[in-house]
Amino acid sequence: MNVFDLLDKYGSPLYVYDEAILKNRCQQMKEFSNQLEKGLPNNISVQMHYSQKANSNLEILSIVKDSGLSVDCMSPYELMQAKKLFNYSDNYSDSDKLLYVCNNISSHEMKTVHENGVLICLDSISQVETWGMLFPNTEIMVRINPGTSGVGHSKKVVTSGKETKFGISEANIPELFSVASKYNLHIKGVHWHLGSLFLDDKINNYIEGVKSGLEIVKKYFSGVEIVDLGGGFGVPYKPDEKPLTLSIVVQELLPILQNVVQDFKSIKSFKFEPGRFIPCEAGSLIGEVTAIKHENGIIWVGTDIGMNQLVRPSMYGSYHEIEVVKHTQYDSPKAMVNFVGNVCESGDILGKERLVFIPKVGDAVIVHNAGAYGYSMASNYTGRPRPAEVMVKDDGTYKLIRKAEILN
Ligand code: LLP
Repeated sequence: MNVFDLLDKYGSPLYVYDEAILKNRCQQMKEFSNQLEKGLPNNISVQMHYSQKANSNLEILSIVKDSGLSVDCMSPYELMQAKKLFNYSDNYSDSDKLLYVCNNISSHEMKTVHENGVLICLDSISQVETWGMLFPNTEIMVRINPGTSGVGHSKKVVTSGKETKFGISEANIPELFSVASKYNLHIKGVHWHLGSLFLDDKINNYIEGVKSGLEIVKKYFSGVEIVDLGGGFGVPYKPDEKPLTLSIVVQELLPILQNVVQDFKSIKSFKFEPGRFIPCEAGSLIGEVTAIKHENGIIWVGTDIGMNQLVRPSMYGSYHEIEVVKHTQYDSPKAMVNFVGNVCESGDILGKERLVFIPKVGDAVIVHNAGAYGYSMASNYTGRPRPAEVMVKDDGTYKLIRKAEILN
């Protein structure tokens, strides 16, 4: 099916995912964990918990599951998706499958997590206190702040260091232990997440963060069974960026993990929480060119893809490659244009200053690498429904994996 047939059939705009790419990225993550596991003593496992916040479509989750990966959740909805995925009814205590890695949640939400028996990771002493009052004598994980500068494509997604709301810093760990012991909470695991999106040029920062996290583990958390290093594995968005070389990450990481398990016999598993890496490159958002205008020396290409369908460009200034597909054949000069959406804000810009041939109304645009934090961050701003999602299966057939919303 070509782009126009897809838009005709499922409506515009439309999220489209490629199953083959998704499977490949899951396999790469599985291979990453296998490589680490091979280098560690036999009793230590390495698990990848796909971070659903990147995209929690159930069809995507089942590919994740079939590839041998687990998931993490951070909201009751994501927990519900995970429950459907792993097909369980009431109590789920298998931390190899699920983790609840949350931030500033209500006691009501804590009750939901507890009822489902999922291991929770709490990220402040205040939350540990609330949990302890509700559920003394239980097991928890805690999120620490390794204190290093972290990694991330924007300041908004760097989650380590002095300027972030996340985790418990080293100075507060003695107090954490006193609160945990007041409620007889057993700290089963330690987690950190340094930030979102590092590529090869930032592997050193990532490793530096891991080292700092492990130093804190060694100093304070004797007896800990799980060490969870979070996500952050990046993908290239711009044409001149290269994919992350996972073998280098393994090469740098393995000796550090080998070293820590030598004098830390309680560790039974290392966990990672890759989000973006898995669905990002598999997904595109396609839409229509709805207007062209030349104003004050600028060419504006209006589309039906607003910041409500893909918020990353307006929220972080993120770059997504945009391709124009002509509806009919015509000659057109190349020029610098701004691709914009249909929302009532000047910041509703999909791509600025792109050199393309000038499209016509009725052409299509394909926004690449929209599989992660695309649909999952889409909203109903200005009363527009979120689009449908379609999967291109391995055999070339198309499957509707979520209907377009109907707002009423
Ligand atoms: N674990 C935790 C605790 C996280 O907070 C995150 C992402 C992940 C894992 C997965 O990180 P990833 O592998 O995807 O980098 N909306 C932003 C990204 C926000 C990431 C939030 N946390 C974006 O569109 O770039």
